[in-house]
Amino acid sequence: MNPKITRFLAEQKPATPCLVVDVDEVEARYRALGRALPQARIYYAVKANPAMPILSRLVGLGSCFDAASWEEVSLCLQAGAEPDAISFGNTVKKVSAIRAAYEAGVRMFVFDCREELEKLARHAPGSRVYCRLLVDNYGAEWPLSRKFGTTLESARELMLAARDLGLDPYGLSFHVGSQQLSSDAYEAAIGRVATLFTDLSAAGLELRMINLGGGFPIRYREDVPEIDHFAHAICHAMTEHFGNALPEMLVEPGRFIVGEAGVVRSEVVLVSARGRTDGLRWVYLDIGRFGGLAETENESIRYAIHTGRDNAPAGPVALAGPTCDGADILYEKSRYELPLDLESGEMVDLLGTGAYVSTYCSTRFNGFAPLGEYYI
Ligand SMILES: Cc1ncc(COP(=O)(O)O)c(C=O)c1O
Repeated sequence: MNPKITRFLAEQKPATPCLVVDVDEVEARYRALGRALPQARIYYAVKANPAMPILSRLVGLGSCFDAASWEEVSLCLQAGAEPDAISFGNTVKKVSAIRAAYEAGVRMFVFDCREELEKLARHAPGSRVYCRLLVDNYGAEWPLSRKFGTTLESARELMLAARDLGLDPYGLSFHVGSQQLSSDAYEAAIGRVATLFTDLSAAGLELRMINLGGGFPIRYREDVPEIDHFAHAICHAMTEHFGNALPEMLVEPGRFIVGEAGVVRSEVVLVSARGRTDGLRWVYLDIGRFGGLAETENESIRYAIHTGRDNAPAGPVALAGPTCDGADILYEKSRYELPLDLESGEMVDLLGTGAYVSTYCSTRFNGFAPLGEYYI
């Protein structure tokens, strides 16, 4: 548990549920990634946590930004980011959003189909564009693949078409899935990108950039490979495929930058056996799937959960949120244990909740107030 956050919680006793993020830790993670992968420019994936104290700190550190919407572009600009440090990285964009970003000076956009490319040609003329490839998300605890990206064959045609449409065909991107535990996924994806670089070069089109996406994992209940391990695998694959003629490299980390910097404090609302004979206690917290813990769907992301007395005798529990929705269950199968004498009113801390929690929070489902947020 982060000592700065522990002190804040002890002194301030904020109302729960709340998220507390240590912004110095965000900086430390940004710097760690920069050290591990100095060849790559970091485009922080704003969607992971768009809070202004995070964006401002990252602007000060010289970060670039991957924005998913005009609203995120606008937040980055408010935080002081230059428009040319922003990539509009969502393959699905409203025309009004493309126009607003273009008018604000943004000149880098992603696409994965002809229709989006034509929108860009019309509403963001001359911009640098990159095509997202569909790659294997095997090994990711929060996969993304099916919804985005296109095949090598189609990307080839689209990049040539981009040039004909007056756009600047800049490069290619992929995302190996979030909380990706295997560096093989990056190596395989780089191999695919390299094939297309070669193929397009033969067709007279020299691409300049490869966007390696996000996906770098953080520790939840179990250790994960260090960032240096991923950096080493990526550099090895890049050199193997591109030799000395390395293209510009971009990364779009979200979870890695902010995840471990955040803790959710929650109150136990009820501990109940509900007359069941299997002895499994149900622990209901004041935060659940709708309060921000959406990534517990299918028990995909399994947060480390601590009470103030982690050495007390413990037994198995199922964990659920406070709403009347039957889907509001966090964990039934993932073997969580909490103290046997846990009672309502006690506090529990969910670690590693700095990413993809504050923004997944519903506004007033069942009347519950949205998650409180503190950036310290
Ligand atoms: C286009 C894009 N880039 C970057 C990210 C950040 O990924 P991660 O949080 O796994 O680093 C995402 C996550 O959804 C994404 O969709």
